[in-house]
Amino acid sequence: MLGPLGRFPQRVARAVNARLRRGRERLLELRYGVSTAEHVYHEDLGLDTENRVWHDPSDWIAIRKALAPLRVGPDDVFVDFGSGLGRALIVASTLPFRRVVGVELAAELNTRARRNLVRSRIRRRAGKVEVITADALEWPIPPDLTVAYLYCPFTGDVFRRVIDKLLESLDENPRPLRLVYNYPFEHNQLLRTGRLRVLSVIPATWPRKTSAADVIVTYLVLPRDEALAAEYIARFPRRIGRSEEWLGEYEPGFALEKPARLGGVVAERPAGKP
Ligand SMILES: C[S@@+](CC[C@H](N)C(=O)[O-])C[C@H]1O[C@@H](n2cnc3c(N)ncnc32)[C@H](O)[C@@H]1O
Repeated sequence: MLGPLGRFPQRVARAVNARLRRGRERLLELRYGVSTAEHVYHEDLGLDTENRVWHDPSDWIAIRKALAPLRVGPDDVFVDFGSGLGRALIVASTLPFRRVVGVELAAELNTRARRNLVRSRIRRRAGKVEVITADALEWPIPPDLTVAYLYCPFTGDVFRRVIDKLLESLDENPRPLRLVYNYPFEHNQLLRTGRLRVLSVIPATWPRKTSAADVIVTYLVLPRDEALAAEYIARFPRRIGRSEEWLGEYEPGFALEKPARLGGVVAERPAGKP
């Protein structure tokens, strides 16, 4: 039931939240000496857009909160599928991964990501950090990849084919593999493979937005061998908290939306449809 002021207080709270986020974002870019905040659209780079999502960076603090609890070590290799201007790579490189790899379609973004990686004022703990220009569909999954990060880089058929490749790689080289999915537009598609178990769900922004889609879900990707799967399930326990709904098919709709000059809504997942 809305009070006499209608939705006014919610709108004010949202506007204040958005300003806080933008202010904090600017401060962190200055602090790290990088430039990763821009939205970049494939249309403006002359690239095909079908099932591909434009550049929008992960939230600095949320990505850290998603990656730090994974307790990675020198056996772990991180890959950001659709690494854009390199923000998630910068955060991952502060953790003791053996390798941190970015795979990005747009060469122009990669040039800037490399510059950001060189300039970033952070304490780097990862071994090698590299950025590769490739379509994730064509890129061979490394057999030692253990943490896959996706900030909603692609949808539909492209997403399905990349996940199939990831599962094939796990079948060929069984290993502990975790998938960290920011803005999990294709959550239901992932669950339908029957090979993923939700480990945690955290807000994808700070301060937190109210949209149901603004979360980062971490999954354990299960090997086919049941004994090995049981071993990994025991090794990587769930920390779900209040987000039980992400354990099953996710109902509420959410959308991917570009500016009006590029056509507005790109893809919408209507409520009640997987
Ligand atoms: C939402 S941005 C995420 C940027 C970065 N991962 C981060 O978290 O800050 C998605 C990125 O995926 C890239 N992308 C889209 N389709 C791709 C594909 N098929 N192969 C590789 N990169 C792709 C886009 O160019 C864009 O930079």
